Amino acid sequence: MKPIRSFLFIPGDSEKKIAKADSTGADAIIFDLEDAVAMDNKPAARKLTAAALADRLPGKRVCQLWVRINPWDSGMAQDDLRAVLSGQPDGIMLPKANSPADVAALSRWIDDADNLTGGADVKILPLTTETAIAPFHLGEYADAGLERLYGLTWGAEDLAAALGASTNLGADGTWAFTYKMVRSLCLMAAHASGVEAVETVYVDFRDSEGLRAACLAARSEGFSGRMAIHPAQVPIINEAFTPSEEEVAHAARIVAAFADNPGSGVVGLDGKMLDVPHLKAAQRVLAQAR
Ligand code: COA
Ligand code: MG
Repeated sequence: MKPIRSFLFIPGDSEKKIAKADSTGADAIIFDLEDAVAMDNKPAARKLTAAALADRLPGKRVCQLWVRINPWDSGMAQDDLRAVLSGQPDGIMLPKANSPADVAALSRWIDDADNLTGGADVKILPLTTETAIAPFHLGEYADAGLERLYGLTWGAEDLAAALGASTNLGADGTWAFTYKMVRSLCLMAAHASGVEAVETVYVDFRDSEGLRAACLAARSEGFSGRMAIHPAQVPIINEAFTPSEEEVAHAARIVAAFADNPGSGVVGLDGKMLDVPHLKAAQRVLAQAR
């Protein structure tokens, strides 16, 4: 399966935005039951989201449909799951995950709810940097044996709140050190776990050029997709996380050069030395090609 390039958030209580779910071009929609929904609206959001899933059961889906539930220790997550699992979501996003133990608990809950899911393969994408303790556990995902784990992603807004920070940006307008650090830890933890690294949201949704540059940088660092908050961000994200024709052609030549030299760990191409890391990078580009 190709990695999901764009995950578009839609507030789970917005009938108007949910009506646009099939026309955004996103690889995945995330119906949000958490931060985008006010406490009083949680029941209504569960109902609307369940109906949106029921209207689009697998087979009638134009893109993957995910649900962001409330945090595992909030007392609301189980009600969220009871409402949405029979709609067979492709995945559940778990916010404010403190460690792989939260993901394991969610995973077991889904296992036990096979009367609702019909045994569907529901994936999990945790937000792994939203509490102060969470970044210290990132390395543990690699040997946690989480079969439903799709990837790891990170968030800077809740972490800033958890740290009592007035901003998560540095003087130059890029992420402050703490947020760069947890972003890199998340990226490495995802690859150590053999799952996708998913870049966080780009909050300035009118800044297309900034978004494009940030997406290209994220892909070149090893992220395979990113979350979006506005439909206008989707085509930019999809394009940036799709290898260009030139990249695909070059990657195919690298793979061919190794195939022509079986048993060799190093080959020359266009006057440059290529060894196994280059082969792996080329194979990754081909896997992401559309
Ligand atoms: N999904 C689907 N449709 C959306 C959308 C989204 N995430 N965001 C905006 N739209 C729709 C609007 O309803 C509007 O529709 P209309 O033309 O029929 O009126 C159109 O796209 C243009 O929207 P715009 O006026 O540019 O933005 P807005 O001020 O209505 O909304 C936000 C801005 C940020 C409130 C909105 O984009 C949003 O709700 N994003 C998701 C927030 C979220 O879920 N956050 C949680 C994770 S961080
Ligand atoms: Mg949040």
